[in-house]
Amino acid sequence: MKFQEIKENVLYCGLNDENRAIFDELIPLEHGTSYNSYIIKGSEKVALIDTMYPPKTEEYLKNLEENGITKIDYIIENHGEQDHSGSIPALLEKFPEAIVVTNSKCAENLHEMLFVPRSKMKIVNDGEKLSLGNKTLQFIFAPNVHWPDTMFTHDIEDNILFTCDFLGSHYIFEDVFAKPCEELTHSAKRYYAEIMMPFRMLCKKYTNLVKELNPSIVCPSHGPIYNNPSDILDLYEDWTKDEGKNLVLLPYVSMYGSTKEMIDYIEAELNKKGIQTLKYDIIRGDLGDLAMGLVDATSMVLGTSMVLAGPHPASVNIAYLAGLLRPKLKIASFVGSYGWAGKLFEPLAECVSKLKLDVIEPIQVKGRITENDYEKLDNLVNSIYEKHKNLGLV
Ligand code: FEO
Repeated sequence: MKFQEIKENVLYCGLNDENRAIFDELIPLEHGTSYNSYIIKGSEKVALIDTMYPPKTEEYLKNLEENGITKIDYIIENHGEQDHSGSIPALLEKFPEAIVVTNSKCAENLHEMLFVPRSKMKIVNDGEKLSLGNKTLQFIFAPNVHWPDTMFTHDIEDNILFTCDFLGSHYIFEDVFAKPCEELTHSAKRYYAEIMMPFRMLCKKYTNLVKELNPSIVCPSHGPIYNNPSDILDLYEDWTKDEGKNLVLLPYVSMYGSTKEMIDYIEAELNKKGIQTLKYDIIRGDLGDLAMGLVDATSMVLGTSMVLAGPHPASVNIAYLAGLLRPKLKIASFVGSYGWAGKLFEPLAECVSKLKLDVIEPIQVKGRITENDYEKLDNLVNSIYEKHKNLGLV
């Protein structure tokens, strides 16, 4: 595979992984992913930015050889996670003169996870520069978008910013430059939801920082490269806003239909009042769709059946995930049906407690729904409507 040129002497040397079906064993991938890696040839030194996912190492090294890369002086590691660092040991064997350049947190990760010798690493500080001759790299620390060791690398003369996982997408490509389309936006949002949303405030900060830096090209470590960076930065500006949209998420698991009946009713009544809903079948749904809903939603009503004396385990998983992803949700409630007795909602509320939500009185019914229960559901819908109205959403 011939490496594609991004700018003169700046080459893409990453690989697509069209067969990868799930990332972090958590959220399915709709379009595989790419592990991006870049070569910058300066007049005196050659730098490689980020490396490769371990199972792809052999193909990666073969490509470097076939493209005539016989010397690497610096391996710039923007982040220690193994989808980008996993090939470092093999690279150091093939290019023993190379030095790994990274920050101190990443260096510790590389030493602990991959046994990279400390003597083979050069530690850089935030803002430090490294000369390649006619090109200069500057390191910009960006902790927690998404690991504490994350940094960006700026090729100053070419004004190319290598943003690591930030601004990426799980999306394979032939031509390295992004062609904006619905499918790519969808993948980038799905990626943001899973990987970046827990760090929303920092993502907002670094979106502004990248905008101020005004690079001509943004090169993330997954998905296509943006030669019009505002295409992705404008999306991040929207996703990281504090205000949610006029949207209520309705995830549910229903064993005998009563819980679903409640969720269906809530959906219909909210829609009548001009509030959008996203209903999600917890058992059959794609977790990525739920995560994307959490990027925008202001409210969530989680429906669950009871299993033994507690909520269905699948509903606990959703509440736990929502707590983990730290979305901008502001309002929540729970509805569900039970057979004999038990605590239906306490474990769910506990999972999302850190989100400090405005929790509307949950509704628990025994078996089938009665007229009295419908009144309670109407009250719940009215309460959500009033709260959305107060937030200026309807
Ligand atoms: Fe793509 Fe955090 O590694």
